[in-house]
Amino acid sequence: MNITMIGTGYVGLVTGTCLAEFGHFVTCVDKIAEKIEALNSGKIPIYEPGLKDLVHKNTKEGRLKFTTNLSEAVPDSDAVFIAVGTPTSRRGDGYADLTYIYEAAREIAPHLSSYTTVIDKSTVPVGTARQVARIIRETNPDADFDIASNPEFLREGAAINDFMRPDRVVIGVDSERAEKVLRDIYKPLYLIETPIVCTTIETAELTKYAANAFLAIKISFINEIANVCEAVGADVTDLAKAIGMDKRIGPKFLHPGPGYGGSCFPKDTLALMRIVQEHGENVRLVEAAVEVNAAQKARMVKKIRETLGGSETGKTIAFLGLTFKPETDDMREAPSITIIPALMEKGAKIKAHDPQGMEEAKKYLPEGIKYVQNAYEACEGADAVVLMTEWNQYRSLDLERIKALLRQPVFIDLRNVYDPDRMLDLGFTYAGVGVLVKG
Ligand code: UGA
Repeated sequence: MNITMIGTGYVGLVTGTCLAEFGHFVTCVDKIAEKIEALNSGKIPIYEPGLKDLVHKNTKEGRLKFTTNLSEAVPDSDAVFIAVGTPTSRRGDGYADLTYIYEAAREIAPHLSSYTTVIDKSTVPVGTARQVARIIRETNPDADFDIASNPEFLREGAAINDFMRPDRVVIGVDSERAEKVLRDIYKPLYLIETPIVCTTIETAELTKYAANAFLAIKISFINEIANVCEAVGADVTDLAKAIGMDKRIGPKFLHPGPGYGGSCFPKDTLALMRIVQEHGENVRLVEAAVEVNAAQKARMVKKIRETLGGSETGKTIAFLGLTFKPETDDMREAPSITIIPALMEKGAKIKAHDPQGMEEAKKYLPEGIKYVQNAYEACEGADAVVLMTEWNQYRSLDLERIKALLRQPVFIDLRNVYDPDRMLDLGFTYAGVGVLVKG
């Protein structure tokens, strides 16, 4: 099939590339000329494992193209995906900013020359797909098209695998023609028996928010339970294992930490709260998850301070990891953006390392941080080390070496990577999140 992907951000680029890998002919369109030039010369604007090779392969094999020109792509397309950004609106009220979506609709419309399915892939409030349809109809009354919603559930850092082996594909349609086009697009997944949930457009739109909100609630829940564990002397690792074995609960997304970040959970939970308010309903659990998440970040600052003996003033703290999760260079809403400045304000000096995120981090963190080349350099002469993001390379650190490099052996493990007993045996002062530290 011929497919146009509007937007070469995270979702657009991954989806477009993976659809080309399925065998479709995909043209990715973006207004930012430098981005398209970079992609055409083989440069990938984001760090996502496996993406670069897949882009190169599909470009070479002639199934993937990049252009700034809609008219080169849309007229021959069976399907046009809209995968542009829907950031939180600049008004700061939590609403999703739909400017780019509507702009895309207006720009696609004149180029729709034969039947086309226009598919919304961006995360958008309920009702947006129908607005897109209205705009297209107003701009080009002759356009023969259907609108559909096809939310994405990719995780950064695991996006290729998530696309190729999804738990499910959700398609929201209100015509058989559109349903057929979408089923054809995802046909390669039938081989691995991927369930396709075919539903109404509104249900598909809301499903995306509900999925992210549920996961955010699950993380905030385990973070609160971790805090309770600290208060009563219980261990959250064993507890999460025990509750996760109940198939109704499931073991995933029960890892406590410094709070969730990224470009999705923080934005989508707020947007859902706004959508719901507009309809006179409540999502109190989601509101609570958002509050708990903010409190968790503040609690981490306190934890670092207390483990340092009550004050961070004049102390040097080594941060291992800055991004909101491993395997990405994405710093959006990373807990480090809240935690590090709070410590610096009280006079802490920061040394930091991140395998991929240091360039991005510089845009989000205050000046004065010393960025270094590896974990050991970060620990040299520091009063404490904070494991902020659980990159694989921090999972088997040479702890004897770390201890020798630190001015005092204080290890604050915000991802519970290390075994507290072992850390104590090695002579560290150790703090995790909700884990039992004996002695
Ligand atoms: C999330 C969803 O997982 C995807 O399904 C969805 O498609 C995506 O948002 C989106 O809407 O585009 P992502 O933001 O890439 O994906 O990352 P996650 O792996 O979900 O992690 C989000 C945050 O939660 C990270 O800060 C992570 O450290 C934190 N987290 C996750 C925990 O603190 N504990 C956990 O157990 C799991």
